[in-house]
Amino acid sequence: MDGKGRFLLVAAIGLVVGVVLGVVIGYFSRQAGSAPWAEELVRDGDDSVGRRVQEEILPENIEANLRRLTSVPHIAGRPMDLGQAEELRDRWLQYGLDSARLTPYDILLSYPSSDDNSPSRVTLMEANGTVVIQSQVEEAPLDEYQTDPNIVPPFNAYSGSGDVEGELVYVNYGRVEDFFHLQRDLNIDPAGKICIARYGSIFRGDKAEKAEQFGCLGLIIYSDPADYSARGYPVYPDGWMLPPSGVQRGTLMIAQGDPLTPFYPANEYAYRLSEEEAKVVSGLPTIPVHPIGFGVGIELLRYLGGNEAPAEWRGDLNITYRTGPGFQHPHTGRRVRLQVNVQNEVKRTYNVIGIIEGSVEPDRYVIMGNHRDAWVFGSVDPSSGSAVQEEVARAFGKLKQEGWRPRRSLVFASWGAEEYGLIGSTEWVEEYSKVLSERAVAYLNIDIAALGNFTFRSIASPAMFQSVFDATKKVPDPAVNPAGSSYNSVYDSWAAKLPKDAGNPNSVPTIGQLGSGSDYTPFFQHLGISSIDIRFICDPAVISYYALYHSSYETFDLVKKFIDPEFKVHQAVGRVLAEMALDLADSLVLPIDPTAYSTALQDIAASVRTEYSTQFAEQGISLDHLNSAVDNFTSAAQRLKRRMADIDRKNPLAVRVVNDQLMQLERGFIDPLGLPGREWYRHVVYAPSAHNSYAGQAFPGLADAMFDIENAVNQTARWEEVKKQLAITTYTVQSAATAIEEGGL
Ligand SMILES: *[C@@H]1O[C@H](CO)[C@@H](O)[C@H](O)[C@H]1NC(C)=O
Ligand SMILES: *[C@@H]1O[C@H](CO)[C@@H](O)[C@H](O)[C@H]1NC(C)=O
Ligand SMILES: *[C@@H]1O[C@H](CO)[C@@H](O)[C@H](O)[C@H]1NC(C)=O
Ligand SMILES: *[C@@H]1O[C@H](CO)[C@@H](O)[C@H](O)[C@H]1NC(C)=O
Ligand SMILES: *[C@@H]1O[C@H](CO)[C@@H](O)[C@H](O)[C@H]1NC(C)=O
Ligand SMILES: [Zn+2]
Repeated sequence: MDGKGRFLLVAAIGLVVGVVLGVVIGYFSRQAGSAPWAEELVRDGDDSVGRRVQEEILPENIEANLRRLTSVPHIAGRPMDLGQAEELRDRWLQYGLDSARLTPYDILLSYPSSDDNSPSRVTLMEANGTVVIQSQVEEAPLDEYQTDPNIVPPFNAYSGSGDVEGELVYVNYGRVEDFFHLQRDLNIDPAGKICIARYGSIFRGDKAEKAEQFGCLGLIIYSDPADYSARGYPVYPDGWMLPPSGVQRGTLMIAQGDPLTPFYPANEYAYRLSEEEAKVVSGLPTIPVHPIGFGVGIELLRYLGGNEAPAEWRGDLNITYRTGPGFQHPHTGRRVRLQVNVQNEVKRTYNVIGIIEGSVEPDRYVIMGNHRDAWVFGSVDPSSGSAVQEEVARAFGKLKQEGWRPRRSLVFASWGAEEYGLIGSTEWVEEYSKVLSERAVAYLNIDIAALGNFTFRSIASPAMFQSVFDATKKVPDPAVNPAGSSYNSVYDSWAAKLPKDAGNPNSVPTIGQLGSGSDYTPFFQHLGISSIDIRFICDPAVISYYALYHSSYETFDLVKKFIDPEFKVHQAVGRVLAEMALDLADSLVLPIDPTAYSTALQDIAASVRTEYSTQFAEQGISLDHLNSAVDNFTSAAQRLKRRMADIDRKNPLAVRVVNDQLMQLERGFIDPLGLPGREWYRHVVYAPSAHNSYAGQAFPGLADAMFDIENAVNQTARWEEVKKQLAITTYTVQSAATAIEEGGL
């Protein structure tokens, strides 16, 4: 190298060093100066993201998802449980979610016996044993789907097995008030008889529980056209009403997830109860219970003896409804035989958990759940929801790939074994209870996305009201509206069809209380995570639910031909879900109005006063403390709402303080000791009704203690229980009030 070369080398090194130093100095000075991450910490959500995600949710994709999901039966614990879980995990990863994985649990499930020679059935016999009619093992092959060998025959999961014979008694819906009416007013004792109830009004497991309590030898449940068909509408496959052979399958258990591992996850080291212990702990029936269609039901009921049934007990069969027991002349010698052969087995079920991590608060979760398992093809329950959920996940994945991230984490959950008693979700909630109760913002549930095309409907914690109102206002109405009416948004259509206050044209829509019956239960009732369930329903003036529920006729054709041919309703449900999730995940201050909760509590307290104040006064029990606690919660909620408005939105810690209190608001209503006799349920303001698990019961401790108190065996003991529950309710509401105060102590 010569002198000139050396000079050039030194000059080059000098240049490189200079450039590098310049870059490093520039970088650090920029960091110290404008600090872009500080802005990111207090950036608010942006409506354009909602518009973008809505645009990305397409009906044709939902239709394709539904077609694929319903191509095979997919009951829990059988090969498709795993097959569809793995496929979903792979799709979520392909859509761009940050992670997706399976969570397996080994749980107690129940299936018809595999012995083909002893199927479950109902037989009506003459005195000499001649068969008059017998239920079919399978539903009639009304379409091409029915030849699938993996269709499970109609049965009630966790029924007792047995072979019983006796006189028949009609018990209406099999509600506690129906049994009381039989015993107390009609002087009919169902003990030692075979009872027949119609489906509807309450959860079928509660029918079985009452039938067992009142001594029935066995219970037959049939679907009456009054509840599962609308006059003048064609039956499947020509329409969406229930044909005579259609049968509603379903579980008899909703309690605390896997019956063998109450309170704990059903993992590999779990301690498992014996099946005998589990029957007691989870209230599984010991009597045989079996579902049938009305084609057989009418023959059982046609010549029933006894008096005419009360007017409210009569369905739509073309017979005179009678109570029994036994049969009328000349059929007096007839008897009914009920043979049930189901077996419980420990099987593996899978949840799929997919996550898009939050950019600013990855430790805050907005969870969107839906179950994947179906009794048969499940085109409505739950695959309409699964098809929607998958499209929402794809849409958010697409946004992420375009460079967007939510502020808080979005979690997608596909649950296994919901149909058996919310098992997959419950086991997962039990496994992650600490993380969830410390970090979950909200749980948004879709089970059935659309059972009709008439209107949106929701049941929810009051903490979710603001967000569902806001979301439904942003989504165009897909409803099939009566001639002459049209609405701009889902909200407008919903408020017009299901107003909270029918006399007020500007009324908000009505939102029901959460009871049980889908996967929000472990989140809401066990942990106190604010939850909501959304769906589209049919016109309640036509039918109260959907006719083909849990039958093998819940096929793709049902949805495509009769519910939502263009999948616009499904699209709208997906859009509402996405807008809500976005609102909860992206808003700087959580979209939770604490005064919606105080309004709800005031309403509940007012109905407690209306219902009980006379009896309470006679017992010298005062409601003053309860009223004071509700008033204290009300003013604390108003103060929190003012703090939300006045907050320094540039201060990320001030924002997080308020958000933590909003997120924890619902947790304030949890009593760690649980409700008496059903300790797994711990929400003191809302629980499933003790007599109908589907329905919500406000102040359940108090309501349970007051139930049928005038007939209590020991009145003194019962009134002591009322006083205790009143104190616990008062204390819990007051604690919740304290928990949302600025200082708190
Ligand atoms: C059994 O009883 C029915 C009704 O009384 C009668 O029609 C039938 O002939 C009887 N069958 C036999 C085998 O006795
Ligand atoms: C109802 O049953 C009666 C007696 O069997 C029959 O005459 C009548 O036609 C039936 N009505 C309808 C609507 O089927
Ligand atoms: C869908 O809308 C049409 C038109 O209003 C109605 O006749 C039909 O019953 C609806 N279907 C369902 C399942 O709600
Ligand atoms: C309600 O708040 C007032 C004022 O702090 C307090 O005196 C009262 O005891 C509270 N009520 C209950 C039921 O704790
Ligand atoms: C009824 O309950 C009260 C209070 O728990 C108890 O003191 C009393 O002994 C009970 N009476 C009977 C007859 O069991
Ligand atoms: Zn479902």
